[in-house]
Amino acid sequence: MRTKSYGDVRSATSQRRGQLLALSLIGAALLLVLAACAPGGSPAAPAAEQAKPTGAAAAATQPATSAPAATAVPTLLPATATPAKDAVVVAGQGSGDAANGKQFWAQRNCKGCHGDNGEGKFAGPRAGDGRSAADWIKQVRTPRANMPAYSTAQISDTVITDMNAYMQTLPKPASLTPMTTTVTASDPAGLQLMAEKRCYACHGNGQGLVKARFVDQNREITTEVLLKQLRTPARFMPSYSATQVTDAQAAQIADYMKTLAAAIKASTPVTPTATAATPAAAKGQAEAGMGYAKQFGCVGCHSVDGSAMAGPTFKGLYGSNVDLEGGASVKADDAYLQESIQKPNAKIVKSFFAGIMPDLGSGISDQQAQALVEYIKTLR
Ligand code: HEC
Ligand code: HEC
Ligand code: HEC
Repeated sequence: MRTKSYGDVRSATSQRRGQLLALSLIGAALLLVLAACAPGGSPAAPAAEQAKPTGAAAAATQPATSAPAATAVPTLLPATATPAKDAVVVAGQGSGDAANGKQFWAQRNCKGCHGDNGEGKFAGPRAGDGRSAADWIKQVRTPRANMPAYSTAQISDTVITDMNAYMQTLPKPASLTPMTTTVTASDPAGLQLMAEKRCYACHGNGQGLVKARFVDQNREITTEVLLKQLRTPARFMPSYSATQVTDAQAAQIADYMKTLAAAIKASTPVTPTATAATPAAAKGQAEAGMGYAKQFGCVGCHSVDGSAMAGPTFKGLYGSNVDLEGGASVKADDAYLQESIQKPNAKIVKSFFAGIMPDLGSGISDQQAQALVEYIKTLR
């Protein structure tokens, strides 16, 4: 296991050195399983949200809640996100719009590495970090260490300023959260690299990604395809430079993804083991559903207490109105839930990303899906 504490890549200020020393020791000694990161990763938002207009005048006329235009159609790179006037906003520090920043913090998945509330996760905490918007912009464009870079088309300087404003409203965490994954030294080199390079924060062990993007689309994953994505990502994935992920490392990751693809084609992975289903079934459908939720690993991505994980929480889901990518909304009734379970990519929940939730296909029966729906109903 290469447990890299995020501290090891940080060039620390002297006040942080004590913490960092402690952290490296913890990092070296601990191999924790962080349930929240288990099989998947937090998806980045794919769709409609674009950077709001730049410049102080635009910011002034724009209500805090108006950032995502519900009718906007997903495009490739947003054409409007030129950073030209952002200097104005940076200079007027404190003018960042925290509500807008909060939304983008989740949607561009900064939270995947820095934590939902900036408490730290696969990278150091950002809440109350006291840094200027200008510092943040520099980091996002030309990152130190293992943080991938975001282009101005992916995130405008204005939005970074807003995120900075949001994070400064949150309390600085009292202690650091060490980076943890379930990856161990006996795992394939490519998987270890996915943890070390924090691909894990967005893609988990890569299984959902490989299935949705390659197996299901009949595409081959090759080193060339992977390198293209790393250096010039299609849409909202930040880019990795050749020093962050070398070509040789990319080849190792691609090899690992090839073995995943082969295993998925042979339909060995994500198939639940049949243990515990029968005794649970006797205790009623909802209870059987709870058993399935553990067995299929649903609870690795869906919390039952309202907390944020890779997927939306199950708590209060039944009967609620769910906003979808593309602007529509739907009532979470039995039919919707069953469809979401059996055809995860049929409808995508707003600000989540398609292809993260595994499509179990015939690996999950109607009866099992119905039991899961009954279980979700009990989570009010
Ligand atoms: C894939 C993981 C990852 C993602 C996603 C990510 N970061 Fe980072 N970030 C890092 C790492 C690694 C560092 C450097 C060491 C540390 O702080 O842990 C870092 C450091 C930073 C720093 C501190 C720079 C310094 O000089 O100390 C800022 C500010 C920052 N990130 C902002 C952001 C913002 C804003 C986003 C979303 C647009 C984001 N990060 C997304 C991994 C990530
Ligand atoms: C901050 C989140 C994030 C991180 C970190 C991240 N990715 Fe991605 N990745 C995405 C998103 C979002 C997509 C979907 C396509 C897009 O929008 O670019 C994607 C797509 C991909 C694809 C599919 C490309 C295709 O041709 O369809 C591959 C392969 C991939 N990522 C590999 C990686 C690897 C390897 C790493 C680590 C070195 C990594 N990603 C880190 C968010 C991330
Ligand atoms: C690797 C992470 C992951 C796993 C494992 C997973 N899901 Fe999901 N799930 C997601 C994500 C991400 C979404 C949101 C995107 C979408 O709509 O597909 C989602 C969406 C859903 C929704 C719609 C939720 C809503 O708010 O409308 C339901 C219901 C659901 N999942 C049930 C399940 C069940 C049941 C299982 C186990 C059989 C499961 N999921 C396993 C990640 C996961």
